[in-house]
Amino acid sequence: METAGRAVTVDRLVFALNGRRYEVAAGEVDPSMPLLEFIRTRTPFKGTKLGCGEDGCGACVVLVAKYNPRKDEVTEFSASSCLTLLYSINFCSVITTEGLGNTQDGFHAVQKRMSGFHASQCGFCTPG
Ligand code: FES
Repeated sequence: METAGRAVTVDRLVFALNGRRYEVAAGEVDPSMPLLEFIRTRTPFKGTKLGCGEDGCGACVVLVAKYNPRKDEVTEFSASSCLTLLYSINFCSVITTEGLGNTQDGFHAVQKRMSGFHASQCGFCTPG
């Protein structure tokens, strides 16, 4: 990682996934590990899927919130987790489809609309 021309050493990653805090020690994961692989292999959240693996299908899309301390503002954006490196979400908050809504806490309005209007065929990519 580089900040303003200076190399910064990261000894651990800290981020939130669906409101849960995760800490990963540097060296515990390969620097090339995609966020999607971490989500599917190291968390209970399996709604985010691997489809094309090249930013084309949307099955792996998650919502990322990133705080900018210089501007004191949070920016939210969607990201294809198949191509997002785990190391790039340090200090971010990530929300998957389970974080939007679920059977226990109730579904998000978007999930209700998609379900109500039968807006999917097989449903594989619907969580994205
Ligand atoms: S798996 Fe298709 S965009 Fe990520």
